[in-house]
Amino acid sequence: MQKLWIYQRFNRRIFLALVFSLLFFRKRPVLGKLNTTRCNWCWLGAVTNNSITIKAKLSDQVKPEQNFIQVFYDQSSDLSFKNQAIKQVLASSLDDQIATFNLSDLKEDTIYHYVIIADGRRYPHQGTLQFKTVKVNQPYNFAIACSSCAGGTISQFSSLGVSNSKVFDTIRQYKYQAENGQAANLALFIHMGDLHYRNDLPFLGLKENDLDDYRHNYDLVMNQPRQRNLYQNIPLAYIWDDHDYGTNDSDGSYQLKYIASQAYREQVPCYPLAETLDELKGQGAIYQSFVIGRVRFLMTDSRFHQDPIDIENNLDQSLLGNAQREWLFEQLKIGKQQQQNNREGLTIWVNSIPWIADQNDASNSWHKFAQERNKIANLLKENNIDKLLMLSGDAHMLAIDDGTESTANSYATGGGGSFPVIQVASLDSRASYKGGPYNGKKYMINSTVKSSNGAIPGKGQWGLLNFIDDGKKIEVRVELKRRENTLIQHTFVFN
Ligand SMILES: [Fe+2]
Repeated sequence: MQKLWIYQRFNRRIFLALVFSLLFFRKRPVLGKLNTTRCNWCWLGAVTNNSITIKAKLSDQVKPEQNFIQVFYDQSSDLSFKNQAIKQVLASSLDDQIATFNLSDLKEDTIYHYVIIADGRRYPHQGTLQFKTVKVNQPYNFAIACSSCAGGTISQFSSLGVSNSKVFDTIRQYKYQAENGQAANLALFIHMGDLHYRNDLPFLGLKENDLDDYRHNYDLVMNQPRQRNLYQNIPLAYIWDDHDYGTNDSDGSYQLKYIASQAYREQVPCYPLAETLDELKGQGAIYQSFVIGRVRFLMTDSRFHQDPIDIENNLDQSLLGNAQREWLFEQLKIGKQQQQNNREGLTIWVNSIPWIADQNDASNSWHKFAQERNKIANLLKENNIDKLLMLSGDAHMLAIDDGTESTANSYATGGGGSFPVIQVASLDSRASYKGGPYNGKKYMINSTVKSSNGAIPGKGQWGLLNFIDDGKKIEVRVELKRRENTLIQHTFVFN
């Protein structure tokens, strides 16, 4: 018996040695060079009815002629070579250590399994990752999760400006969670900025100085297991705010803004960007739009074109910049036209910083750009754009303003131009209060939680929005949560 065991063990070692040799010393198709490229992490974005973008971070730089980097994908979880139906796609581009994959032959509203194969190595090592496509320009029931601000707040000195909060697990678990008999079916996680707070800690020398610093910060975020697990299994739609773009309250004068834009374009799986990166033309903002079901999403960039705030001179300053404001106006009008022919039923404006704020507010919110806010509200009023909902972060709190009591949220000339506003943060940053007042105190469902002026400051906070569309009207069931607990709840109906 002893001899047999030794024999088996010996054979097993030979077998493992052979496998090892095959993996590490086999001839490469190109150059015959020993290559040890691995995938370190990946994330998903730009999901549509038939396509998705995957960005994968490799352990080292790969030249295009050495492109052995592939995604294997299928509706089945069997992604082995035994599965004849398995599909493979090569990286469409390789920038530094980022491989970009565009999967464009997908079925709508369908779950796919995928793995990254980098130079013979599979990522993840065990199991598969998943994504689900959506429906576009037709009635579709789906949900999104949203929030912002994830600095990690164990203490000012022990945090490295990134978060591995349990809230990321909480959100991911809603992917297939049935609530009130309604499958959440998370189509998307919308991150409204402050993916990290690395440069909030300049005394630790964490402020970005060059492109590699920006790349390193994306690495640090994706090295947090709970964030990584979320982003590689649920498509992301992400725009930056001040801390992941530059320093606290940074604006269009920030000296590294073109590098921030270059890093974003390289690292983030995003929807097509309306503006190209061109330093000579002063371009590089990251605003983008997309449609899921009959809902148009507009995500604006609050930082790249923001004029430096100059209260004393009260100039006609812009937060969006002329080009982005014109784009926003055009998108709002397209949304209205689509609503008139019933192809769409709602527009959601993802705007990172608080819209509702009066002149006495200490924060750098939209009241510092009152003329531009008035122009936008006038456009809404003049074009009767009434199926609009705003999502905002920045303030580390939960709040709803339903837009019906035209007191604070009414910025058109002569009144009006109001719409519902939802403030959702923070994932994992110290509680703060900005803007307001918010008239949604009546929608709070837990009176024991500390609140102020219609808002609930805190962390571990996020929003779940369920869209129920019968083809004529869209109901948006909003649940603003701290971890699993719903603290504010309201259903908006757009018909
Ligand atoms: Fe923040």
